[in-house]
Amino acid sequence: MKKIVLAITGASGSIYGIKLMEALLAANHQVHLVVSSQGEKVVQYELESLENILGQYIDKDLIYHDNADLFSSIASGSFKTDGMIIAPCSMGTLGKIAYGISDSLLTRVSDVCIKEGRPLIMVTRETPLSPIHLENMLKLSRLGCTIFPPVPAFYTHPESLDTVIDQTVARILSLLDIQHPSYTSWGESYDQ
Ligand SMILES: Cc1cc2nc3c(=O)[nH]c(=O)nc-3n(C[C@H](O)[C@H](O)[C@H](O)COP(=O)(O)O)c2cc1C
Repeated sequence: MKKIVLAITGASGSIYGIKLMEALLAANHQVHLVVSSQGEKVVQYELESLENILGQYIDKDLIYHDNADLFSSIASGSFKTDGMIIAPCSMGTLGKIAYGISDSLLTRVSDVCIKEGRPLIMVTRETPLSPIHLENMLKLSRLGCTIFPPVPAFYTHPESLDTVIDQTVARILSLLDIQHPSYTSWGESYDQ
């Protein structure tokens, strides 16, 4: 069982965060969820209310942390986790993390991951990318973070949007050595 911090920010693509949460809980991992206030609004706009969604997981190993609560366990490096995924990750949050601005639980835990050398995967979503975005991404990548724009793979011949999302989720989880049923590697199952 791994302890994963999952963060959702106000970029489009909140489905990635929710599907990652579902997959982690289904595989019996512990999820520490933190959502920015704009992230909560975009979840509601793109899907349904966060409260309704979380209500479906009350019997699971899901710990919800208030983004304003900097006294939370995950705010400290002494609380060991196996890494953090920010999905989706807005350019605003990316910029704050790149400059060490730990003004919320979400940005503080990201800062902790970097200082403790833990995996930090940022599912960045924006297009086109400005030089500011690109410089921030390069800086974070050089610091050991994984910049993971959710780019679909068309060589898998996906039949639906759900398939595209599941394959991205599987690929993200594979970076943390977590299995997902939709994961297939090139050379094994795809027609070549
Ligand atoms: C519907 C909607 C979609 C958005 N999509 C993006 C996006 O894909 N990428 C991005 O960087 N910002 C996007 N934004 C803007 C962010 O929500 C905004 O920059 C916000 O301040 C991010 O705050 P947070 O990082 O604290 O969640 C979107 C805003 C809305 C309302």
